[in-house]
Amino acid sequence: MPDLNTSLHLDMLNRFKKRIRLPLRFLKAIKGEIFSKEIYGLQWGDPDVVPPLRFIRDRYVIPYVNAKHNALEIGPGGGRWTRYLLGFGRLYVIDYQSELLEELKKNFNKKNITFIKNNGTDFPGIEEGSIDYLFSFGAFVHLDKHLIEAYLENMKSLAKAGANIVIQYSDKTKIMAQLNEGFSDNTPAEMRKMVLNAGYQILEEDLTTLWHSSIIRFTV
Ligand SMILES: C[S@@+](CC[C@H](N)C(=O)[O-])C[C@H]1O[C@@H](n2cnc3c(N)ncnc32)[C@H](O)[C@@H]1O
Repeated sequence: MPDLNTSLHLDMLNRFKKRIRLPLRFLKAIKGEIFSKEIYGLQWGDPDVVPPLRFIRDRYVIPYVNAKHNALEIGPGGGRWTRYLLGFGRLYVIDYQSELLEELKKNFNKKNITFIKNNGTDFPGIEEGSIDYLFSFGAFVHLDKHLIEAYLENMKSLAKAGANIVIQYSDKTKIMAQLNEGFSDNTPAEMRKMVLNAGYQILEEDLTTLWHSSIIRFTV
């Protein structure tokens, strides 16, 4: 219990007052809309702004960015997460839809990015044993288990020893996933089993940050 002269409640009141300065927030949002580059995908939440996504960004993405490392993102969409991966030496972005890769190129056509169209679970053109970090958000949540298993099998030979692989997947133990028909049938227990059966070692799991999905980090 804080003592009587704690500033805790005044601090909370001040934070609340700041938050309710609506006109200012409104103007700021309009300015953001006018001056920011449109990124397809921000409608699902901006990791710079939405606290759980910010947590994912700060815990599972940013600490791994390294200019001497190679990274791979599966299902980048419009680049909502790609923008945090630009500091890798080489970044492979792989997507099943060429239209999405074209959309991504509009905002992120950088020299260190290789854009790859795949056939759903393969990695054309990526050298074996070359990947230090692999990230996927918003893609595996829609993939059925046989596709996840195929991906897990195919990505094994790409990863360097000790690589970090971070995947967000559908978690049907959560009500928000149950309500989302687009989310595939998956749970932490099943994801864990698939990852272990494919021969990986699980490093970390996050079952609480997101309302409709969970995160698993593993290595070869
Ligand atoms: C919902 S969007 C998420 C995009 C982005 N990662 C984000 O979080 O904003 C799903 C992306 O995964 C891609 N995708 C769907 N199935 C895929 C597959 N089997 N392999 C690779 N990409 C896939 C889609 O084309 C799309 O770019």
